Amino acid sequence: MTPAISLSGIGHAFDGAVALAAVDLTVMRGECMALLGPSGAGKSTLLALMDGRLRGWSGAAEVLNAALSAHQPPRRQMRADTGFIFQDFALVERQSVYQNVMNGRLGRTSHWGSLWGRFNDRDHAVVGAVLRDTGLADLAERRADQLSGGQRQRVAIARCLAQEPKLILADEPVSNLDPAHAEKVLELITGAARKRGIGVVFTSHQPELSQRFADRVVGLRDGRILFDHPAGLVSESDIAGLYHGAIPDPQLRVVS
Ligand SMILES: Nc1ncnc2c1ncn2[C@@H]1O[C@H](COP(=O)(O)OP(=O)(O)OP(=O)(O)O)[C@@H](O)[C@H]1O
Ligand SMILES: [Mg+2]
Repeated sequence: MTPAISLSGIGHAFDGAVALAAVDLTVMRGECMALLGPSGAGKSTLLALMDGRLRGWSGAAEVLNAALSAHQPPRRQMRADTGFIFQDFALVERQSVYQNVMNGRLGRTSHWGSLWGRFNDRDHAVVGAVLRDTGLADLAERRADQLSGGQRQRVAIARCLAQEPKLILADEPVSNLDPAHAEKVLELITGAARKRGIGVVFTSHQPELSQRFADRVVGLRDGRILFDHPAGLVSESDIAGLYHGAIPDPQLRVVS
């Protein structure tokens, strides 16, 4: 297996305050990784870096075999290959479910095509298949502003899958959902990714769910990786240390 993401010695500070420090992390293609850690740990910052949206970081980062630049956005191709699911869904409220999901195809059409909103038969076929996969076919004509939180999250996932990404990054994809929906949504994301053989990195505040749906769990605290374990090997003391332990010693990093 080749890496989807390879980070080495990543550091970042916002106005002098350290957000990421000496982060080394490799995510293999097809691997599903959960990123846990208390509020302010640096999870969203790390995901933004992987997505090519963070500027001014130090270290070396490769995503889908292309080096990321700390100073400029990635090429269009890389942007199209990486799908991002935002915490707040980021839907176009006045558009239908179908149109919102079709927006996922914008990066895959020619510049002129996307400018004029022309999509080809393949675009419509991909959107149709994704709507069926995510259980949204019956809601295709409903406007986004008339959906429940759980339905909106499914539209955000469907839009990401319509993009046909090679890597999915998801920032707290289930934070706004009740336990039953949270489980269904994580199952949907990780199941769809496994079916397509693509990697996933998702952040979460729910250790138990993360262990259940990810292959691997990484604990981040104060911008540093505290542990990096196969999901089945994360212990209660790892979790307790992550949320309640003393400020981590920079030398302390447990990898199993
Ligand atoms: N745009 C920004 N400007 C200044 N500081 C920022 C910015 N974004 C994040 N930070 C700071 O960087 C640190 C890491 O923030 P980040 O959002 O990555 O944490 P997080 O682990 O995602 O937290 P949460 O679980 O609350 O989402 C925090 O101290 C935060 O205040
Ligand atoms: Mg965050």
